[in-house]
Amino acid sequence: MAVEAAGRDVPTLTGWPVVGNLRALRTNYLGTISRADRELGGLARIVAGPPGWRLIMYSVTSPELIEEVLGSPERFGKQHPGYRELRGALGDNMLTSEGDVWHRQRRFLASVFTRRRVAESYAPVMTDEARRLVDRWRQPAATGTMLDGYPEMIKVASRVSGRILFGADMSAAADLLTRFRRVNDHLLRRAVAPHPLPTAAPTPGNRRLHRDLRQIRAIVDTLIARRRDRPDPTASDMLGLLCAARDADDPADRLTDQEVAEQAMLFLLAGHDTTAVTLSCVVLLLAQHPDWQARLQAEVDDVLAGRTPTAADLDRLPWLGRVVRETLRLFPAAHGVGRSPATDQTLAGCRIPAGSWVEVSIWGVQHSARVWPDPERFDPRRFDLPDRGLTDRAVPGSHRYAWLPFGAGARACIGSVIALTEVQLVLAAILQTYQLRTPLARTPVHAAITLLPTGSLPFQLSPRAT
Ligand code: HEM
Repeated sequence: MAVEAAGRDVPTLTGWPVVGNLRALRTNYLGTISRADRELGGLARIVAGPPGWRLIMYSVTSPELIEEVLGSPERFGKQHPGYRELRGALGDNMLTSEGDVWHRQRRFLASVFTRRRVAESYAPVMTDEARRLVDRWRQPAATGTMLDGYPEMIKVASRVSGRILFGADMSAAADLLTRFRRVNDHLLRRAVAPHPLPTAAPTPGNRRLHRDLRQIRAIVDTLIARRRDRPDPTASDMLGLLCAARDADDPADRLTDQEVAEQAMLFLLAGHDTTAVTLSCVVLLLAQHPDWQARLQAEVDDVLAGRTPTAADLDRLPWLGRVVRETLRLFPAAHGVGRSPATDQTLAGCRIPAGSWVEVSIWGVQHSARVWPDPERFDPRRFDLPDRGLTDRAVPGSHRYAWLPFGAGARACIGSVIALTEVQLVLAAILQTYQLRTPLARTPVHAAITLLPTGSLPFQLSPRAT
């Protein structure tokens, strides 16, 4: 017999009779989470759908409770439907695995994500792609053509992830990137459907998903086999590093080909949409705030004096870092992370039933007026923290889990340095060359697996006066 955890009921957000907040979650997921935070505080139960077809979410938006959930993986695990879906499609990778399997993967992969690796191997690719982007934009800048932020940034972010993952094999992988976007879109649609049909159901969408996944996997397997046949100890792309990785505790141990393939596919998925959304939001924010745009231009001009930015310059561009931090507060590309307890739990004295959906809402806490004064205002001065690195989460007067765009605890994002480096390098190159304008007064976004723009994000460029 299951042991019932003691505790009160979690306060429930008001909704319509019978269907609760079904429509509200579908049409305004993020706004509904923020309403729950405003009306009920940092822990709320949100019900969607009629009895028997109901989805119940426990939304967590207080930094203290987030710390408790993310800090207790043994109580709040990753057997969440969203992660199950991802596991089904891509295999058991570092994002979805738990326990010993996860420990093993993280041990192996740590060497692929060191700061030094990012600065020496990946940042030059980012700088090069930023330069290409700036060149590609000369024509639209000269003609005053309106561009759309997200597709522009997807192009640059996919090329960066393709190159840092596959290096010289990037051209062999180009088809893979296109297919991967389709898989990503399909998974996004499934993740936001309340009760998606199993992927085994023979719908046209599912058949295409399986065909795409098989072909992606075949390309990745061929690339891995090629690396295994002709090992290159000097290879500094991720695929080469994954193939060469050895366990620090047991150098004879190495990742199997299956493990390498599963991680590579995860990096493609985890890396480029999130980075592209962040880049498009920061471009729009600066176009909407000419004062901040001018301030950053003055900083890059002063520090770089026209030179191409490198990773080594970033420490000397503090306002660039603060603007990116504030962008990630307002627009956290990963707006929430799901957890699910295997047994009944209590949180803030309330009962959370086994198997339920606990949503740590990064959006919710970062937009909460209880946590951030005037939360909707874009104000990079919030992060004016001398002597603190960009990945340091502490903000004076605030809980250290008040800002967590990269998650927190043992399962925090392993790619945060890659993402921050890429966003800052691309942004610095854009600001050196162009003036940004947009007709939009705000940046419309909605929640899918990641945050996505709602409609286009139009902006115009003009060459900066020299
Ligand atoms: C702006 C860009 C990014 C954002 C906002 C972001 C956000 C996050 C968040 C919130 C988590 C925690 C998930 C959880 O707790 O369940 C996470 C985990 C992860 N991310 Fe990222 N990410 C970004 C870029 C990247 C990149 C570029 C990579 C790899 C190339 C990456 C790889 C991963 C992996 C492997 C994990 C799982 C870590 C673990 O569980 O040990 N991410 N990310």
